[in-house]
Amino acid sequence: MKIAMFSSKQYDIEYFSQYAGQYYHQIDYFDTRLSEATVKMAEGYDAVCVFVNDRLNQQVLDELVNLKIKTVAFRCAGFNNLDLNQAKKLQMNCVRVPAYSPHAVAEHVLALLLTLYRSTHKSYNRVREGNFSLEGLSGVEISGKTVGIIGTGNIGSVTAQIFRGFNCEVLAYDIAPNHSWAAENNVTYVELSSLYEVSDIITLHCPLDEQNRHMINAETIRLMRQGVTLINTSRGGLIDTQAVYEALKRKHIGYLAIDVYEEEANLFFEDLSTDIVMDDLFMRLTTFPNVLISGHQGFFTTHALNQIAKVTLQNLQQVEQGVKCDNVLF
Ligand code: NAI
Repeated sequence: MKIAMFSSKQYDIEYFSQYAGQYYHQIDYFDTRLSEATVKMAEGYDAVCVFVNDRLNQQVLDELVNLKIKTVAFRCAGFNNLDLNQAKKLQMNCVRVPAYSPHAVAEHVLALLLTLYRSTHKSYNRVREGNFSLEGLSGVEISGKTVGIIGTGNIGSVTAQIFRGFNCEVLAYDIAPNHSWAAENNVTYVELSSLYEVSDIITLHCPLDEQNRHMINAETIRLMRQGVTLINTSRGGLIDTQAVYEALKRKHIGYLAIDVYEEEANLFFEDLSTDIVMDDLFMRLTTFPNVLISGHQGFFTTHALNQIAKVTLQNLQQVEQGVKCDNVLF
């Protein structure tokens, strides 16, 4: 297959180049994002390979089909950036990598939380400067906390198990609960409102869709405990960022850790250190001492990158050969 890869970075080239030959694919790498303005670049290719912030709306899908491209390979798990109905209508072949490494994201949740709770980012700098004072470094323990997991699929279930290992009580909510897994792992499913009311730590692991956009909003935050810790490594649109910002100012939210942001398409994956970032809300959040933001790096481990490259190329090969592919979206 001749594949146009959009939003590609040096690490995509590195990992995909290792495996492309094995699957007899030819890949051309474009660093630009796929959108209405760039879709023409796909002319002459058999498939496009896309990432989390490429735009696959109706117009882009129509143009792809116009260019005789009916295959879209997501090199990620989430596909909220796809107009699913239009893709179905056009009978496109959409494949993804559903579970390249749930541990990568689940462990990142703990990396963020431990940093926030134990200020390791501050001690790193202090010690390098010869400042061994402990003033202001007093931390919070995870042990004994009640953790609410929203979405207990691949990532949420691993996250729950890690929190059990930290001696936490783990509550969960999922629209399709897995009761046998919960029983085996001492996890208790509860109603979403109860999860909000009793959890000390709430971590989001459900996909973003039209029903749950801004599920964390002023109203649901009001249900939460004073000083609650909120973690989002799933998709930025699950959170009404303005409402969360207001709750941080009121000290209702005690800690916020996010790896995703609803307006991240304008920021993440680029070096903007010499630019003026125009997103005031985002920049304001970076000034809070109890907020930690990473730029959508939960997935970013060597194991996961190898898996993403292999599974994406295999998906494309199965589509090309017309054989059953387990990773089709519909
Ligand atoms: P998954 O499909 O294995 O699990 C999702 C779970 O959420 C399912 O059990 C589903 O029933 C549940 N669910 C769906 N809608 C829900 C709702 N409204 N309320 C509660 N539960 C709901 O997905 P996986 O692999 O665990 O990934 C979860 C999300 O993590 C992805 O959709 C993606 O947005 C995000 N992600 C983030 C990454 C990062 O680098 N930060 C990397 C990979 C995924």
